[in-house]
Amino acid sequence: MSNKTQFATKIGLIAATVGSAVGLGNVWRFPVLAQSNGGAAFLLIYIACVFILGIPVMMAEFSLGRGGGSDAVGSFMNITPGKKWWMAGAIAIIASYLILCYYMVVAGWTMEYLWQSITGNLYEGINASNALDSSNFTTKMKEYIVDDYNPLIFTYIMLAANFAVLLFGVKKGIERLSNILMPMLFILLIVFGFVSLSLPKADEGLKFFLNPDFSKIDGSVIINAMGQAFFSLSLGMGILITYASYYPKTTILSRTAVTVSLLDMTVAIMMGIIIFPAVTSFGLTGESLEGPSLVFSTLPEVFAQMPLTQLWSSLFFFFLMVAALTSTISIAEVSIAFMQDRFKMSRLKACIIVIAPLFLFSSLCSLSQGSLGEMKIAGLTLFDLFDTIATNILLPIASILLCIYMGWIAPKSFFKNQLSNYGTVKSRVFHIVLFIVRFIAPILITTILIAHFI
Ligand code: PHE
Repeated sequence: MSNKTQFATKIGLIAATVGSAVGLGNVWRFPVLAQSNGGAAFLLIYIACVFILGIPVMMAEFSLGRGGGSDAVGSFMNITPGKKWWMAGAIAIIASYLILCYYMVVAGWTMEYLWQSITGNLYEGINASNALDSSNFTTKMKEYIVDDYNPLIFTYIMLAANFAVLLFGVKKGIERLSNILMPMLFILLIVFGFVSLSLPKADEGLKFFLNPDFSKIDGSVIINAMGQAFFSLSLGMGILITYASYYPKTTILSRTAVTVSLLDMTVAIMMGIIIFPAVTSFGLTGESLEGPSLVFSTLPEVFAQMPLTQLWSSLFFFFLMVAALTSTISIAEVSIAFMQDRFKMSRLKACIIVIAPLFLFSSLCSLSQGSLGEMKIAGLTLFDLFDTIATNILLPIASILLCIYMGWIAPKSFFKNQLSNYGTVKSRVFHIVLFIVRFIAPILITTILIAHFI
């Protein structure tokens, strides 16, 4: 365990972990969810979920990974040898791999839109007279992400990019890339914030996004907020266990969890502050604001009406591509670490075994979106099926098991030692965190799990 790979710097490990957390969930899921579920009222609930549930569970995952010192399965085995609790880690790995299959497809779309923005194809044929005709971009969206084999090329480019970075390893690949890209991402976020808030009618957009409507808050909204917090913080997928196994002994886990969660939340809220003023300024509020169409059709409409269309469009899709790339890398690392640690494989072999099958699985997810015609299992495309199984079922199960494990099964001193770095840092919150991990989190996550079935 002593020759285990580690992140080189504190900033680097935060950049990498934030890179995993900040993804498409922050950009297209959070703003829309907030707007349609009570605006500022939702925001308050979301923040509460992050603090009450997200941060303590993140501390539990960090402790498990760093203390266990191995992949998502091996860490359980190291802490409680001979017990079957490693299966919780196995469920997390399966969930993460399923997510990777379709997340890679969407990552490919972001790359494709970046390319089409740079070349100008995305805006070809769009002029002052038809810029407001939303069918332009919905047609292009269909062409870019559904039709034919075109999207596959970009999925493969993303796969190749993942492979290249992952092959360089934790320090020279993941950490170095995150150190370069994450600061860029935050700078772009600030630039977009300024641009968007200086547009006419920005205040109307903000009101539209944040208008507090407590009457909308009911059980299902709270469940949505909890689910979003888990997805956005990359919990329950073995990612944080795996990354934390690369944290040095001196990393203060509680502080890291708070920093990562706050940065992730900042990006999500900023995205709402950027998107809604931009959208309302151009009178597009009534348009489809759902996930993919918000990003791939409504926003290009906004860019088309701004000066420097291609520049803003390219910068935005670069932002999105970075967010997606650092997330896919973190998901793939879960399986790669597993292969390396469990089967003593070389990095190269592990990377090939994990990435190569994705050329097939991601292609199937992509093609099941339309090019192959109807290809549905239980009424869902392969894409949606993987999403449903992973995020609605496996992810909550893995999280519940993880909380039970850290709260009840692993030696109590283990969790405490990790949070206090063996008594060298004060950990005033330990008892609260333990209480949440033992009682509150398992109960609440079980509620989310059951809610998906009723
Ligand atoms: N947390 C990422 C987001 O908000 C999503 C993600 C899911 C990342 C799964 C890694 C693994 O989009």
